[in-house]
Amino acid sequence: MGCTSSSNNFDKSSKSSCGSSNNSNDFKMAGKQSLGISQFPAPNSQQRLGGSPTKARTKVALKPGRSLMDWIRLGNSGKDLTGVGRKVLEVTPEELAKHATMDDAWIALRGKVYNISPYLEYHPGGEEELMKGAGIDGTVLFDEVHKWVNYESMLEKCFVGKLKTTPIQKRGSVSSLLRLKPSTPNGPAQPHPPMGPPPPPVPSPPRFDWYQNDKTVTLVVYTKWKQMRKENIIIDRTGRDLTAWVYIEDHTFTIHVDLEDDITDEYEVTVQKQTGKTELVLQKQTTGQQWRGLGKFLDGHSSYTPTNDKGLVYRSCHLESVVSVNHDTKLLCVSLPPGTCMCVPVGYHVHVRHNVEGVMVERSYTVVQPLLGTQDTDHRLTQGKVFYLMIKIYTDGAITPWINSLRPGDSIEVSQYEGNFRESRLDGQGDLIMYAAGTGFTPMVGLINHCLSQNTNRKVKLMFFNKTEDDILWREHLDSISEKNEWFSVQYVLSEPGSSWTGSHGRICEDLMTSFSPFTEAKTDTLICACGPTPFTKSVIQLAKDIGYSDDNLHAFLG
Ligand SMILES: Cc1cc2nc3c(=O)[nH]c(=O)nc-3n(C[C@H](O)[C@H](O)[C@H](O)COP(=O)(O)OP(=O)(O)OC[C@H]3O[C@@H](n4cnc5c(N)ncnc54)[C@H](O)[C@@H]3O)c2cc1C
Ligand code: HEM
Repeated sequence: MGCTSSSNNFDKSSKSSCGSSNNSNDFKMAGKQSLGISQFPAPNSQQRLGGSPTKARTKVALKPGRSLMDWIRLGNSGKDLTGVGRKVLEVTPEELAKHATMDDAWIALRGKVYNISPYLEYHPGGEEELMKGAGIDGTVLFDEVHKWVNYESMLEKCFVGKLKTTPIQKRGSVSSLLRLKPSTPNGPAQPHPPMGPPPPPVPSPPRFDWYQNDKTVTLVVYTKWKQMRKENIIIDRTGRDLTAWVYIEDHTFTIHVDLEDDITDEYEVTVQKQTGKTELVLQKQTTGQQWRGLGKFLDGHSSYTPTNDKGLVYRSCHLESVVSVNHDTKLLCVSLPPGTCMCVPVGYHVHVRHNVEGVMVERSYTVVQPLLGTQDTDHRLTQGKVFYLMIKIYTDGAITPWINSLRPGDSIEVSQYEGNFRESRLDGQGDLIMYAAGTGFTPMVGLINHCLSQNTNRKVKLMFFNKTEDDILWREHLDSISEKNEWFSVQYVLSEPGSSWTGSHGRICEDLMTSFSPFTEAKTDTLICACGPTPFTKSVIQLAKDIGYSDDNLHAFLG
C-alpha cells in the first residue's frame, strides 16, 4: 500500500511508508532523526503548535551533542561562557545593542544581561528565534513563547552583568517584531517602537463574598461563566494562609486570606452551571465557633489577571507509589501537600522541576487516570489530593533518569496544571477519533474514560503508533475495552514491528487516515485529537485538513 509522505524537514533521510503487512523493512526509521516515536518528544519535537491546531511554533532539530544534558555539561566544564572573562559588567542599552551578531550575541532578560552566543546551537527553538532577542531586552519576546523556561538557571554561566537602565520594551507579538528586525540573524539590532496595538480591555473581576454556619465557612465567587467547573479552582493552604486561584476563561481571580481561625484539609467546591456561581466550602476546625470576620486579606487578594501572566507555582509533593507500565514507562502516583487541592482537567499537564547538575530543569507531563475504565478509580482524584503521571524514562535524558530513581516517599516538585482542551468539546455526539504516538497516548486516557463514563453511542477510535509491540501502553486495557464495547475500536501501528506482527506498520499517512477517519460532508461534528512528537502531531493535523476536516474538527495536545 502506498502512502504520501508527510513533509517533515527533519526526516529527509528516512523512507516514508505505511501499510498493513509486515513483509518489508523499508519503513524502518533511521536512528534518532526518524519519526522519533521512541523519543518523546524527539530531539526536534516539542508537542506544541501554538494556540490554533495549525499554527506551529516548532522546535528545530538540534545537532548531535547539543542536547540539554550536553549544555549542562558544558556549563560545568569550567569554560568561560560569559565571553567577558566572568567580570560582572553594568551594561547600557547602547552597549547591549552592539552585541547582536551570532558570535557575539547578548540578551537582556528582566534586567540581567546574558551572552547567548554559546547557547545558540543548544536552543530548542533554533538559532534564528533566539537571535530575535539579541542586542535588546528580550523579556517580552521570551515570555510570549515560554515564560516558564528557567533561563536564569540555564544561562547562569553566561551572565554578563546588569542592564543599567531598562530600555523601552517592545509591545505586541513576535511576528510584528520580526518585521522590524533585519531578516538575517546577523544583522544589527533595530530600534523598536515604544507602542504596539492597544492592550485588550481588562474585564472586571467577579464578585466575591463569604458566609458561615456552625461548621463551615463558604467563599463565593460569582464567575458568571457557564463553562465553570470545579477543576477550575486550585487551593493552597499553609496554616491559616489560604490562597485559591479561580480560573475563569483566560483570567485568574485570586483569593488570598489569612483566615480568622483554623480549618481542616477537607474542601468542597460546588459550581452552579447556569450562573457559574462557585462556592468553596471550608470546614471549621472548631465547630460552633462564629468567626468575627473571614480574616485578613493578603497580597494579591481580589486580583484578576490574565492567566498567562501568572508564573508557575511549584508545590513540594510526595511520590506515593510507582509501578511499571512497560519496559521503559512508569506510572507515578503523586500526593499533593495536605493543604492543597488540585483536580486536573482532562488532557492538561503539569510541570515537574529538578536540579540537574546545578541547572533547574522543567519538563511537562500530562496527568492521567490510574487506569482505563471508570470503576475502582482512586477517589482521592476527585478530592484533588493526588494525581497520576505516566512517564517514559530516557536513560540519557535530562530529567527522566532522576524520575526513574524516585522511590515512594521521595519529594517531587510539581506546578499547577496548564492546557487548553475544553472538556465541553466531548459533549457532541459525533465520532471521536484519536491519533496518539508513544506517550502521546496520555491525554487520550482521560478522553476514553470520559466516553466510558457517558454510556456513549458515539464511535470512539484510537490509532496508536509505537515502535514495537512492547512499547504499546496499556494494550490489554485497550483491547478489553474494545472487546466489551462496540462503539470503541483501537488500531496499533508499529514502525519497527517484529516478524510475527500482522497488524499495520509505518507512519501516519493519508491512506491510514482516510481508512481510519474518512471525511464525509455529513460528519461535521467529528472531533479528531492528536498527540505525540510535534512532527507527528503536525502531520495528523495537516493530513486531516487535506482530506477535508476543518479547525473545528481538530485538537492538538501541546505544551
Ligand atoms: C505538554 C507536554 C506533555 C507531555 N506529557 C508527557 C507524558 O505524559 N509522559 C511522558 O513520558 N512525557 C511527556 N512529555 C515529554 C516530557 O516533557 C519530556 O520531554 C520527556 O520526559 C524527556 O525528558 P528528559 O529531560 O528526560 O529527556 P531529554 O533530555 O529531553 O531527552 C529525551 C531524548 O532525546 C534525546 N535528545 C535530546 N536532545 C538531543 C539532541 N540534540 N540530539 C540527539 N538526541 C537528543 C536524548 O538523548 C533522549 O534520548 C510531555 C511534553 C509536553 C510538552
Ligand atoms: C527571546 C528570544 C527567544 C525566542 C524568540 C525563543 C523562541 C523559542 C521557540 C519558538 C521555541 C520552540 C517552541 C516552543 O517551545 O514554544 C523555543 C523553545 C525553547 N527555548 Fe527559546 N526563545 C528565546 C529565548 C530563549 C532563552 C533565552 C532561553 C534560555 C535558556 C530559551 C530556552 C528555550 C527552551 C528550553 C525551549 C524548549 C521548551 C520546551 O521544552 O518546550 N529560549 N524558544
